[in-house]
Amino acid sequence: MTIHYVDQQRIFHLQAAQTSYIFQVADNGQLLHLYWGKRLRNYSAVANRYVPETRAFGTQSPFGDTLVSPETVPAECPVFGTGDYRTPMLHAQFEDGSTVSQFVYEAHQLYKGKPQLQGLPATYVEQEAEADTLEIVLRDPLTGLKALLLYTVFRDINAITRSVRLMNAGTQPIRLHKVLSASLDLPQAGYDLLHLHGSWARERSVERVRLTPGTKSIESRRGASSHQHNPFIAVMEPDAGEDHGQVYSMNLVYSGNFVAETEVDSFGSLRMNIGVNPFDFSWLLEAGEAFQSPEAVLVHSAQGLGEMSRTYHKLYRTRLCRGKYRDATRPVLINNWEATYFDFNAAKIEQIAEAAGELGIELFVLDDGWFGERHNDASSLGDWFVNEKKLPGGLKQLAERVHAQGLQFGLWFEPEMISPDSELYEAHPDWCLHVNGRDRSPSRNQFVLDLSRSEVRKEITKRLKDILQSAPITYVKWDMNRHMSEVGSAALPPGRQRETAHRYMLGLYEMLEEMTSAFPDILFESCSGGGGRFDPGILYYMPQTWTSDNTDAVSRLYIQYGTSIVYPISSTGAHISAVPNHQLGRTTSLEMRGHVAMTGNFGYELDLSAFTEEERALSKEQIAAYKRYRELIQFGEHYRLVSPFEGNAASWMIVSQDQTEAILLFAHILAEPNVSRLRVRLKGLDELADYRLQSLGDLPVDGVFGGDELMQAGLLLPAMKRDFSSVLVHLTQV
Ligand code: DGJ
Repeated sequence: MTIHYVDQQRIFHLQAAQTSYIFQVADNGQLLHLYWGKRLRNYSAVANRYVPETRAFGTQSPFGDTLVSPETVPAECPVFGTGDYRTPMLHAQFEDGSTVSQFVYEAHQLYKGKPQLQGLPATYVEQEAEADTLEIVLRDPLTGLKALLLYTVFRDINAITRSVRLMNAGTQPIRLHKVLSASLDLPQAGYDLLHLHGSWARERSVERVRLTPGTKSIESRRGASSHQHNPFIAVMEPDAGEDHGQVYSMNLVYSGNFVAETEVDSFGSLRMNIGVNPFDFSWLLEAGEAFQSPEAVLVHSAQGLGEMSRTYHKLYRTRLCRGKYRDATRPVLINNWEATYFDFNAAKIEQIAEAAGELGIELFVLDDGWFGERHNDASSLGDWFVNEKKLPGGLKQLAERVHAQGLQFGLWFEPEMISPDSELYEAHPDWCLHVNGRDRSPSRNQFVLDLSRSEVRKEITKRLKDILQSAPITYVKWDMNRHMSEVGSAALPPGRQRETAHRYMLGLYEMLEEMTSAFPDILFESCSGGGGRFDPGILYYMPQTWTSDNTDAVSRLYIQYGTSIVYPISSTGAHISAVPNHQLGRTTSLEMRGHVAMTGNFGYELDLSAFTEEERALSKEQIAAYKRYRELIQFGEHYRLVSPFEGNAASWMIVSQDQTEAILLFAHILAEPNVSRLRVRLKGLDELADYRLQSLGDLPVDGVFGGDELMQAGLLLPAMKRDFSSVLVHLTQV
């Protein structure tokens, strides 16, 4: 068992692979958070127990025989209203209008395995022995509101998951205002916060700031997890870095509005919370009903950020992503978006597919513009019927012709949207999110379908299924290109309007479950204007995501580095595009574009039929090399070596699980005059083994070196005399 209950002291000790997480039922029935950190053999509740404290101006509540100020109590499930003034985990309003609640321990049970969260994505186990689960029931004696806290501890992965299920066991309706998934208090402040932020085309920039007294919240109110912020925070001790030090992190398995809060209080302790954003949210819980929160994944690392990332990578690669493609190597693809945008016909597509086939590319993806009257982004979303004027013979004929070039065929959809200029909108103008009497604000000329409504989901699902059954399609790119506004549903009563955004997510998850179950052989890739919904909720249904619409190789160093903080390479789409780059106008060599893209799920996004002989030859080589090493790249252990956010270079490497092979990327951004040759220290190798290095590019990096030498003395890199230079090196044990 990974979970131990010490009856006498009513202590729960959760032991993941290298982590202990400990809390206690206090004499007053409240849960006290006692410890989260490196795994302990035992916890001395005597030496380390919480010392009841009262503070001047602190409200006092009974705590066993003493009175304490609740704001000094390290809480495991904090509520509001009785003197804990920090940001709570749960906040509810009762029939009498009051918002005070007080939860006390009622019961608990321990069992093997991990339950599913109904209607929500979550990590899972394949064998019961992989994890243990603890359920704790807390009860608010006055109202009958119950909170079922759910903890799962993975035996071999250093992760603990948490969620809460609120149940109305009373007789009156209850309005939930805030239902977060996890909350805990860490002792002493002085921590840093690391989070990922950005915007379209510059997703997941790494930001590290000192936490000072007060609340800092990272959140999305956009109806999607968003380009702007990722549902992830890491609290780091000030001396913690990439490879050492204590890191405490939370990631929410959810794709909609979220909040991740840190609050440093006036006594130096730190509260960390994560969950569905309470902003513009409420949920009416009738007697007998329950509300399930999404799952939060908690990862502690005593060896810095790198170890934390590898824990997330392993958990998500093996126990979050599902289906046939979870463990399968992913195809090299060509997508026609940047090659043609909306301006294509069957002949053009076949021409690109032919050029792709000659290079060894395995999958052709037909992007936006194949349906309805979609000649630009102003129309037809929702009209999922092939435009036979553009593609005579339909998708079947096109797919067969693409197959004849040796490629599989994939298709783009944007199922969650509706264009005002569409037959669907003409028939169902109330099917989008809207508020009666108010203008509907367009974004990219489109509105968001109200997926909280079953009839909307049903119709769209049917249209998608019809298309997917009409042609041999083995891949779907599921796009989503705007955020929500005028969030309201024609199907919900006034008192439930603030449920719309969450009900939308539940509807989306239901659709994704249905589609991915109906088409188990299709590889689904998620996209939201690039990486605008790169979160674990989406990865549960679709094992890879289009990382960013920004395909510039230099920008990608930042974006892919930031993405790797939480998400595995097997989830990260990375394509070579044309130069000058369409987003930035920058020109980088085909070699460097290849090197950067080859450390993700590799593909192309340009008109291959316009390639020169030389470009064709290099691409053939890169594709062949990628295929040789893709299992290692997609499923190896990821080590970050040099951060582009801290200087003029970026480097990372991927090491096979058995340490016999590795791939190293080093990219130097701007050339510098009169400088010494650069050196990089490798990581993750077997220090007792020797490795042969072979450059996969023009710059020479060859020879045989000891793993210890490469990791301690480092590797002396060749002179890099151009802007935007890179090396990609394969290492193999000799
Ligand atoms: C946004 C995506 O990120 C692009 O790759 C492309 O699919 C366009 N949408 C199509 O409209």
